[in-house]
Amino acid sequence: MTAIRVPLADVAVGRPMLVEAEGARVVLVRVGDRVHALGDVCAHKGGPLSEGKLSGTRLACPWHGWMYDVRTGQCMFPGRGAAVASYAARMEGDDVLVELP
Ligand code: FES
Repeated sequence: MTAIRVPLADVAVGRPMLVEAEGARVVLVRVGDRVHALGDVCAHKGGPLSEGKLSGTRLACPWHGWMYDVRTGQCMFPGRGAAVASYAARMEGDDVLVELP
């Protein structure tokens, strides 16, 4: 198992942040005092979600606008049925810890 550790202070509220570990691209999203972790590669055509726009808990892909719920990774457009990976993120001291399978 791979773990990503990032100081919470480095994760700006409302601005997606790309982190990479052992070939995995993960986007961290801070909403209030919670951090969510998702796969960075859009399920549509591979756009970089870390460059997307965040509105509340919705993250829009910068390429064609598919929206994802950052809490679940689920695409929010009805009928799409698509999702990106969602990883558990927890606090450990002043750091955010994300464990990848
Ligand atoms: S690649 Fe993300 S919406 Fe098309």
